[in-house]
Amino acid sequence: MNDLQRRRDRVLGPMMTTFYRDPVELVRGEGVWLWDAAGNRYLDAYNNVPHVGHGHPTVVEAVARQMATLNTHSRYLHEGIVAYAERLTATFADGLDTLTLVCTGSEANDIALRIGWAATGKKGIVATDATYHGNTHLVSQLSAGRRPVGGRVDWVRRVPPPGGAVDGAAFAASIGAAIDSLEADGHGFAALILDPFLANEGFPSLPPGALDAAVALVRARGGIVIADEVQPGFGRLGSHFWGHERMGFVPDVVTLGKPMGNGYPVAGVVTRRDLIAAFREGFGYFNTFAATPVAAAAASAVLDVIESEGLQARAEEVGRALRAGLGALDHPRIREVRGAGLFAGVVFDDDGEFTGEVVERMRAAGVLMHYIGPGRNILKIRPPLVFGHEHVDMLVDRLGQVLKEMG
Ligand SMILES: Cc1ncc(COP(=O)(O)O)c(C=O)c1O
Repeated sequence: MNDLQRRRDRVLGPMMTTFYRDPVELVRGEGVWLWDAAGNRYLDAYNNVPHVGHGHPTVVEAVARQMATLNTHSRYLHEGIVAYAERLTATFADGLDTLTLVCTGSEANDIALRIGWAATGKKGIVATDATYHGNTHLVSQLSAGRRPVGGRVDWVRRVPPPGGAVDGAAFAASIGAAIDSLEADGHGFAALILDPFLANEGFPSLPPGALDAAVALVRARGGIVIADEVQPGFGRLGSHFWGHERMGFVPDVVTLGKPMGNGYPVAGVVTRRDLIAAFREGFGYFNTFAATPVAAAAASAVLDVIESEGLQARAEEVGRALRAGLGALDHPRIREVRGAGLFAGVVFDDDGEFTGEVVERMRAAGVLMHYIGPGRNILKIRPPLVFGHEHVDMLVDRLGQVLKEMG
C-alpha cells in the first residue's frame, strides 16, 4: 500500500474499492487518454461517463461560462433548462414528452419505480436477477449484489434475463409467473424495470423484438415498462440513439444518467405527462442540485458535441471495426464477441480468474477496461465515443499480446 492509499483508507474509511491490484492514480484526462501521477498514459476503453471524451472543451466551456453567469435551483424560470428539455424529449417517440432532471441514475430509477406505484396504485416490481439499477434504499432492492440489511422486501420479484436459453417467450413467461405471485401475495403489479441492452447482465445478444412479448404482457397486466438507459443511451449503441429503439419498443418511462453531462452530475426521467402528474401528485418532488442552469448547460453541450462530431455514426462504424478486430483474435478461451456500437464484450471460458487477469495485464499494457456478467467472465469495453480506428488497433494489438502471454 502506498502513502496515498493509506491516507485514503484512513480518511475515506474501509471498503472503498478501487480497480486493479495496484490502483491507478489518475491526474489528467483528454479525449480517450488518461495519465497517471507517474506520467504513464492509458487508453481509456472503459469509461462511459466522459461520453464525448475526457475534458471536452465544448462541455468545459459551457459549464464554466454558465457557472460564472448563474446557477440556481429549479424554482425559477430559466430558458436553458426548458430549451434542453424540449431538445432532449424531441429524441423520443411521441408521448414521451416530459423531463424531470435529477443528479444520478439511482435517483432517476427511484422516481421511475415510484411513478409505477403512483400510476397503478400497486406495489409489485419485477426486475432481472443479475442487475444493478442504483443505490437508493428503494432501488438497491433490485440489485443482484449484496442482500440489503433488513432483508429483501417481499414486493420485488427478480427473473432471469433474456439471452442464451431464455428467449423472448420464456422471459415473458417468467414475468407472468412473477406477476401472478405478486398478485397472490396481495401486492399487485406496478412495473417492470429493465435495461434494454442488459448491460449489467453481460449484454447478451438479442434479436430485435426479443422484448416485445414481455412489454405486451406487462401492459396487459396493468403495469408500466421502465427502460433504464443509463448505460446504452445517447448514441453509444451506434444504430440507434436509445437502447429501447434498437429493441423496437416504446417504454412508459425512460431513465438517463452517466453520459448525459459528460461527468457533470446530471440525470433524468423522461415520461408521459399523465405519469409524471401521478408521481408529483403522489409524492411531490424537489431536488436542490437538479435542473440547474449549469446542469442544462452541461447536458446541452453534450448533445451539441454528439451532433457536431457525428458520434452516434462513429460509434456504429468504429464499433464494427472493434468487434471485427476482437473477433479475429485467436485464443482457445474466447467463446464469443458481442455488443453493439462502442459497447463490446469478449466472453471467455473462465473458471474464475482468467478475465480478471486479462484486465490487470491490459492495464499494465496501457489499456483500461473491466469485466462484467454474473460469471465475471466478459471483458467490458465501453470507451468514450471519440474512440477511433487507431485506438481499436492499439487495443486489439495489446489484447492479442496479453492473451498470447497468458497462453
Ligand atoms: C444500468 C444502471 N442504472 C443505474 C445506475 C445508477 O447510476 P448512478 O451511479 O448515477 O446512481 C447504474 C450505475 O452503474 C447502472 O449501471
